[in-house]
Amino acid sequence: MRKNIVAGNWKMNTTPQEGVELARAVAARRGEVAPQVAVIVAPPFTHLSEVVRATRGAGVSVAAQNCAAEAAGAYTGEVSAQMIATLGVEYVILGHSERRQYFGETADVLNRKMERAFEARLVPIYCVGESLAEREAETHFEVVRAQVEEVLFSLSAERFGQTVIAYEPVWAIGTGRTATAAQAQEMHAFIRSVLAARFGHEAADECTILYGGSANPGNARELFSQPDVDGGLVGGASLKADDFIAVAKSF
Ligand code: PGA
Repeated sequence: MRKNIVAGNWKMNTTPQEGVELARAVAARRGEVAPQVAVIVAPPFTHLSEVVRATRGAGVSVAAQNCAAEAAGAYTGEVSAQMIATLGVEYVILGHSERRQYFGETADVLNRKMERAFEARLVPIYCVGESLAEREAETHFEVVRAQVEEVLFSLSAERFGQTVIAYEPVWAIGTGRTATAAQAQEMHAFIRSVLAARFGHEAADECTILYGGSANPGNARELFSQPDVDGGLVGGASLKADDFIAVAKSF
């Protein structure tokens, strides 16, 4: 079922203590957000356990920002989907452009991470989006089509039905340069059409597609009013409870 979601991607920010305080502040104000809007926070691994505790019963879900491609074993420094799920975490962000760009995540790696996420019963938030050079070369539709096809097309209908997608144009991430509502709508509708060709119109229509990239309290309302934009994956503005809640109230 298509849902409205606002997810805060904290990236590599906050100490554990600051993270718990931020989570508490979000939980305390969650009641201001419409109950049908899912509110998610994605802190660093080190904070997950405490943030789950701090948000328990408050209608705030927790996501990890990544998980290992392997299930268990000799993979020094990795954190498995199963470990994350055991903490009470419900979602995992996969394929964020920073992971693709700085950590070399390929479609092959992401396919394995998706598999691990589903095995652990984590809901993947799968990110796609083109770079500035790709947008300027007008290849953005082809780039995003490939990112959708190479990871999502191998999913069963059932798993696809559980997957959340985030469209995050790389040129809009952390730059203060948001996609216009029209640009976001155009790409979201395109993604839905690509999905419809594989999974059928009904399933594509029910897929939750979030926008990410400098979303903030000033632009969220216009973005979220677009028919194919179901919410946001919010970076910078999720580090302040006031801003994050304001974004979550923008439906
Ligand atoms: P931003 O980040 O809101 O700071 O642009 C979004 C994201 O990368 O998820």
